[in-house]
Amino acid sequence: MIDSAAPAPAPAPAGVPTTDAPPVPSAPPFPHRDLLTIQGLPAREISVLLDLADSYVAQNRKRDKKTSLLRGHTLINLFFENSTRTRTSFELAAKRLGADVINMTVQASSIAKGETLIDTAMTLNAMHPDVLVVRHPESGAVKLLANKVNCAVINAGDGQHEHPTQALLDALTIRRRKGNLDGLTVTICGDVAHSRVARSNIYLLNTMGARVRVVAPPTLLPPAVERLGVTVFHKMTDGIGDADIVMMLRLQSERMAGCYIPSVREYFRFFGLTYEALRAAKPDALIMHPGPINRGVEIDSEVADDIKRSLILDQVELGVAVRMACLDLLTRARRAG
Ligand code: NCD
Repeated sequence: MIDSAAPAPAPAPAGVPTTDAPPVPSAPPFPHRDLLTIQGLPAREISVLLDLADSYVAQNRKRDKKTSLLRGHTLINLFFENSTRTRTSFELAAKRLGADVINMTVQASSIAKGETLIDTAMTLNAMHPDVLVVRHPESGAVKLLANKVNCAVINAGDGQHEHPTQALLDALTIRRRKGNLDGLTVTICGDVAHSRVARSNIYLLNTMGARVRVVAPPTLLPPAVERLGVTVFHKMTDGIGDADIVMMLRLQSERMAGCYIPSVREYFRFFGLTYEALRAAKPDALIMHPGPINRGVEIDSEVADDIKRSLILDQVELGVAVRMACLDLLTRARRAG
C-alpha cells in the first residue's frame, strides 16, 4: 500500500536501470531466538518487550485469562535450582497463552543419575519443545545449553550472571508507577556480588537512562563494580539519599563460600531497610525486592508489608505479564513459519 502522505519517489536518473525490487520486509520487533541476557539489548527492544507486557496485564486481571496464541506449543521448565516465583510465573504465562507446560524436577530426572547438562538438553530437544526455560547454578550454563538446541531458550537465572526476565519485570513495575525509567535514581542495596538480579537490572536501568547506585559492604560488591555503570556507597543513608526506587537484595548464602558479614544482626543494623533509613530517600520513594525476602535480615518486616511503599507483590503480578510478552515475541518467527 502506498502511503499518500509520503513524497513521490524521485525518477531514476537517465541510464540507471530501474528494478522492481520486492518490498523490504519490516524487521521483527525482537529479532532474537533466545533471551539470555539484558546486556547487549538496545533500549528499543527493551521497550518493545515492556509495551507488550503492559498489554498482557489487563488479560491477567480478567476472569477468563486464557487465549490460544500458543496452542500446540510446548514449554519445558528446566530448573536446576529452587524457585517459587520464576518457575510458577513461566508456567502460568505459558498456560495463559494456551501452551502445554512440562516442569522438569531435577531431583526426579536422569540428571540425578549423572547425565550431563548437554545430554539433558539434547534429550529434551529431541522431543521438539518450542521454548526451554532454564535456571542453573553456574554462570554461562544456560548459554552453553542454548548452543545445543534448536528451540527458544530463556535464561531464568544462571549463577550470579543474569536473570533477564526479573530485570524486565522490575522495569515494568517501575514504569507503571513512575511513568518512565529515564532520569530516575535507583539504589540497589545488599548482596550485589552474588546477585544475577542486580547485574541484569544494572544493564537495563543504564540502557533506559536511569541513574544506578549500589549500597553494600565492600565484601558484598563484585570487583570493579563501578565499571558496570553504578555509583558505589557503603552507608545506607548516603546511598538511598534522594532515591526514587530502593531495591533490596537477599543475602544469597547458597552462593557464598566463606564468611562475608560479621553477623546477620550487624548486617541488618547497617544495611537493613528500616523506616529510619528510608527517610533519606525521596518522600515518594518506592521499595522493591525480587524475593524471596528474609524479614529482619535485609528488610524490616513492616517496611516490606507497607502497601503504600512496597511494590513487592506488584513485581510478582507483573512477572507473569512480562513472561507472556517474552513467550509471545520469541515464538513469533515459528508461528509465522
Ligand atoms: C532471585 C533469584 O533467584 O535470582 N529470585 C527470583 O528470581 N525472584 C533472587 C534471589 O534468589 O534472592
